[in-house]
Amino acid sequence: MERKKITIPDLLKMKQENKKITMLTAYDFPMAVVLEKAAIDIILVGDSLGNVVLGYDSTVPVTMDEMLHHTKAVNRGRKKSLLIADMPFMSFNVTARKTIVNAGRFIKEAGADAVKLEGANPDIISIVKSVVRAGIPVMGHLGLTPQTATILGGDKVQGRDAKAADSIMRQAIALEKAGCFSIVFECIPDSLSEEITKKLKIPTIGIGAGKGCDGQVLVTHDLLGLYDRFTPKFVKKYADLSKQIAAAIENFKEEVTAGKFPAQEHCFKAK
Ligand code: KIV
Repeated sequence: MERKKITIPDLLKMKQENKKITMLTAYDFPMAVVLEKAAIDIILVGDSLGNVVLGYDSTVPVTMDEMLHHTKAVNRGRKKSLLIADMPFMSFNVTARKTIVNAGRFIKEAGADAVKLEGANPDIISIVKSVVRAGIPVMGHLGLTPQTATILGGDKVQGRDAKAADSIMRQAIALEKAGCFSIVFECIPDSLSEEITKKLKIPTIGIGAGKGCDGQVLVTHDLLGLYDRFTPKFVKKYADLSKQIAAAIENFKEEVTAGKFPAQEHCFKAK
């Protein structure tokens, strides 16, 4: 039976029926095709694009133009998976008007179904309400928020003590009330994500947040072993593609140098 297009109510239903939601990142057409074939529920064009594809040291330099360019490519490869685009730093936390315009570009120009944005301070909560009122679905992102990691003391687990845990719980409730359809929790204790997941009606998606969330997300380049600079503790490497690619490239070089490639079967004959 052909898979039907995943919608936001479908995600809510999955939470109600205790069915785990799968979400992975993609930044280009071929990866989107692979994730679509694997029937991944949500494809995220994360601003992790900056680290794993563009070679920046953080997600901060990522621009709207870069995100739009990659979201368009991913949209051409996906069919039924829900497509979410990450709003890059300073594209959403300036004014509500600017945020609606930028979020609208992801939907209208790039073909995304929804946007994701980090944080939940009072300004962001008010901005989320405006974007949702404009008809654009918003996914929240709490815990370790990489765009503001410096303020959080670096890439560290968040919400470990009672005060910090309470603050994350309150932010999550505020995002749900503001109209978010789902929230990503990054690097928080599993007991906290479990407690929040039970409290919220909307689905929670964890990355380094334990089993208690309604779904799991990873950066695809991490799980495939395609990004060697840094592997967080929460990543499970399902493959080591960097090594395999390096071996293939070395093989190509050796065969060309030795005159073994191209062989007869790769050549064209004149009439
Ligand atoms: O940018 C990204 O890939 C993300 C995931 C880590 C959730 O935000």
